[in-house]
Amino acid sequence: MNGMIDIHNHVVFKFDDGPQSLEEALEMLQIAHEQGISAVFATSHFAENISEDLEGEYFRKLEQLREAAEEKDIPVAVYSGAELFFHHYLEQTIKNHRVSTLAGLQQYALIEFPLFLMPSGVEDVLFNLSLNNIIPIIAHPERYSALQDKPEKAIAFLRHGGLLQVNAGSILGEFGKQVQKLAMWMLENRMVHFIGSDAHAPRGRTFKLQEAVDYLRNHLDEDYIRMLVQENPLKIINEIPIREVHVPEEDEKPSFFQRLKRRLKG
Ligand SMILES: [Fe+2]
Repeated sequence: MNGMIDIHNHVVFKFDDGPQSLEEALEMLQIAHEQGISAVFATSHFAENISEDLEGEYFRKLEQLREAAEEKDIPVAVYSGAELFFHHYLEQTIKNHRVSTLAGLQQYALIEFPLFLMPSGVEDVLFNLSLNNIIPIIAHPERYSALQDKPEKAIAFLRHGGLLQVNAGSILGEFGKQVQKLAMWMLENRMVHFIGSDAHAPRGRTFKLQEAVDYLRNHLDEDYIRMLVQENPLKIINEIPIREVHVPEEDEKPSFFQRLKRRLKG
């Protein structure tokens, strides 16, 4: 599919656990281009206490990457962003740092949790952000052990104003069968708003939206797939809030979750 936009990636070089050189970063953008991706968000890892120096370094390297990509004729736009490690005063961090929202637009923020320990009070923080017109996007919910144990937590995130971004690699089974099943359950229930590659390198964890889309074509309708990799990401760039969120029906709950838990364990 052409014109895809990939909202979760680590393409800024020598900054986090992403590419180790400008050359590697360019190689990654070239791969993105070959997949049909026309724009990416460079969501480097940021934790609390973002220093001016660190933010400055990020934007300098981002600019260097944009210029080099233009010189090499790689037609992939690179927007700024961060994958924010969850903390309880996220709202403050987001207000104070341009890097913390996608494309610096003070509207959408990509947030990750520790993989094996879900912090307390997450729903309150999400709800508070949405009251302040910041739309939190939860990075790869399918990878958290807390959601493996309690998939209904994903529904609680949605109810508190969060959107969900699933990783392409999870859909393709690269993080194991359990993760893949949870990802597919959320997708089949239309709880997901974005698919991101979460690319870190030119090989291995690289851009793979095209493979994910090809896989999803056997499971989901084309309109929904297009929404995930094109229409919703475009809304971020065009500053349109996504407010209509599909939440699975409450009355389906008990047997529905028992069935799902059996599926995840099987
Ligand atoms: Fe990431």
